[in-house]
Amino acid sequence: MNNPYKPWLAIIENITDEVGGERAIKTLRLKVKDKKIRENFSFKPGQCIMVSLFGVGECMFAIASSPTEKEYVEVSIMRHGKVTSALHDAKIGDTLGMRGPYGNSFNVDDWIGKNMVFIGGGIGQAPLRSVIHYIMANRKKYDRIDVIYGARSSKDLCFKEELFELEKRNDINVHLSIDKEEHGWDRFVGFVPDNLLKVSPSPENTIAVTCGPPIMIKFVIEKLLKLGFPPNQIFTTLEMRMKCGIGKCGRCNIGNVYVCKDGPVFSYQQLKSIKGEK
Ligand SMILES: Cc1cc2nc3c(=O)[nH]c(=O)nc-3n(C[C@H](O)[C@H](O)[C@H](O)COP(=O)(O)OP(=O)(O)OC[C@H]3O[C@@H](n4cnc5c(N)ncnc54)[C@H](O)[C@@H]3O)c2cc1C
Ligand code: FES
Repeated sequence: MNNPYKPWLAIIENITDEVGGERAIKTLRLKVKDKKIRENFSFKPGQCIMVSLFGVGECMFAIASSPTEKEYVEVSIMRHGKVTSALHDAKIGDTLGMRGPYGNSFNVDDWIGKNMVFIGGGIGQAPLRSVIHYIMANRKKYDRIDVIYGARSSKDLCFKEELFELEKRNDINVHLSIDKEEHGWDRFVGFVPDNLLKVSPSPENTIAVTCGPPIMIKFVIEKLLKLGFPPNQIFTTLEMRMKCGIGKCGRCNIGNVYVCKDGPVFSYQQLKSIKGEK
């Protein structure tokens, strides 16, 4: 029987410095070494992988690349503690461990024909990047697309160059923001939920997906409800501490729901029922 905890060997093919400073973010492009395993590996937007550094530890990360990229996966990692700091010190060509994919995913097939609004903050843009890339690769299947994304300052915007490129296209509407005024910034200034109200997407035939810090998600959901979005049209991801990733260790449960297995993607309707709200 296969050991579900045994990682595959993966090589770091590329490293992108997304954000510097204390809360630095790097995107690592990982390529599984074994050709057969690599060819059989598949995932859906919203799923996660466990990445390990031998002798240091392992951590769960949202997959930030699109399933349409077959040869590699990308994870965007914020420097936080022991493992993420060691991953930030890793170099191109280093070998890491990788296992997964874990969890459910965004319902991209159910959303065909709908308008999509993505609302992200900080490193929360990582899982959204996967689904946005997927939808752009299948652009004809979806209606209007809005991306509302913000960070503390222009230096803290993750995937900046990519978002600036998307801004120039006429088949997607990108609305960037930073929290405080900055010389040369001519886009929105203020918090992400306020930018959402300014954009005011119509809830009609629209799915809203939000990922980011819990406080941002709380206010984004509040504003979406105010705009008339019903709870079953709002989706988010939960980030609980995880160990096994396969529903065995009981580290990540909320009631009888295992975030690693039943999540990390939940509709607001589901979250209300998990919390016992009507
Ligand atoms: C489903 C999911 C998706 C995630 N996606 C991303 C992502 O795309 N990018 C990213 O930068 N981070 C992501 N995280 C958070 C990332 O796993 C933590 O930052 C990381 O585990 C911290 O480990 P550390 O050793 O650097 O920190 P330490 O503080 O040294 O970790 C100590 C222990 O706490 C756990 N831990 C600490 N913070 C978290 C956290 N926020 N969530 C879960 N476990 C934590 C660690 O696994 C470890 O067991 C995700 C977490 C989950 C559960
Ligand atoms: S991480 Fe072990 S049950 Fe979810």
